[in-house]
Amino acid sequence: MNGIKILGTGRGVPSKLVTNEDMAKIVDTNDEWITSRTGITHRHHLAEGETITDMTVLAARRALENAGISADQIGACIVATLTPDTLVPSAACCMQHELNLPHDTVCFDLNAACTGFLYALHTMECLLNASERKYGLVIGAENLSRITNWEDRGTCILFGDGAGAVVVESRPEWPSISAILGCHGTDQMLRVPGVEKGVPSLIYMEGTKVFKFAVEAVPYCIDQVLARTGKTVDDVDFFVFHQANARIIDLAVKKYHIPQEKYYKNICEYGNTSAASIPLVISELHEMGKVGSGSRVLVVGFGGGLTWGGAMIEFA
Ligand code: UT7
Repeated sequence: MNGIKILGTGRGVPSKLVTNEDMAKIVDTNDEWITSRTGITHRHHLAEGETITDMTVLAARRALENAGISADQIGACIVATLTPDTLVPSAACCMQHELNLPHDTVCFDLNAACTGFLYALHTMECLLNASERKYGLVIGAENLSRITNWEDRGTCILFGDGAGAVVVESRPEWPSISAILGCHGTDQMLRVPGVEKGVPSLIYMEGTKVFKFAVEAVPYCIDQVLARTGKTVDDVDFFVFHQANARIIDLAVKKYHIPQEKYYKNICEYGNTSAASIPLVISELHEMGKVGSGSRVLVVGFGGGLTWGGAMIEFA
């Protein structure tokens, strides 16, 4: 089977900046609590008139430009999201139109909550095997401010909006990203009801229980990916974690003795952006030159479902 590598990255960040002080005007909270418990100082929300399509198209255009690839070379486009602008057409179909992707480009959305980007990358790796055009667009994008319960201080302070994109290429001589993916299939601790009649479709989360799940899921994913690829922690150039809580990342970093120059937190700037969180980190790291040609990056995600995933992703 062909493997994929990242060629280019980009992001689309909403214009509205919401600080912890802004949150304290909505619910009974304060900057000290939010910063110390989560690491978040502010987050971006879609402003009036901004859409997820605006963000995905912006992120994708930047990733295409960064990769030096044109829209007509793209064989497949997957948007990982649980908050598309419309259920039909999908966020990926909206992008197909805006970006002028070829009509035979496979375009669809994928929902695996915060693990969505990793599910999408694995799906893209499989899809490009069967595609004549060997380039793919994978985007993680969310408009979580639309489904936030503004009366629940335990969750509303956490979430942000945004989009991150990568362009990948598939080649027979490249290794697989060796994705490990899974789920527990439960709505007990974390759910968004959806279109059920009479039930407001807002995020419900029992944070402390999800925290415990995450603290176990992260090392499980790291161990599984290392075992599958035959690599050690020292073989990894950079670790990218889903940005759900700075404390979850700190615990993993401590457990694996990961040096400061090999991981990155941007949760202070974005909050938890679910499926967008990992590609937002990857895009920033790439722009800063912390990862680039030849880098081997171990990526870990976890979230609603309850889902989890890990992969070893290389840059071309
Ligand atoms: O991306 C999907 C996966 N999601 C996650 O991984 C999220 C994982 N969970 C978390 O990040 C944390 O559990 C939270 C940040 C959500 C909550 O932190 P916590 O340390 O688990 O706090 P808690 O829910 O146990 O609440 C502790 C106290 C409570 O007060 P009492 O009962 O001790 O008096 C809460 O009512 O903090 C209170 N509290 C707040 N206080 C000020 C909860 N939210 C707030 C708030 N401001 N925003």
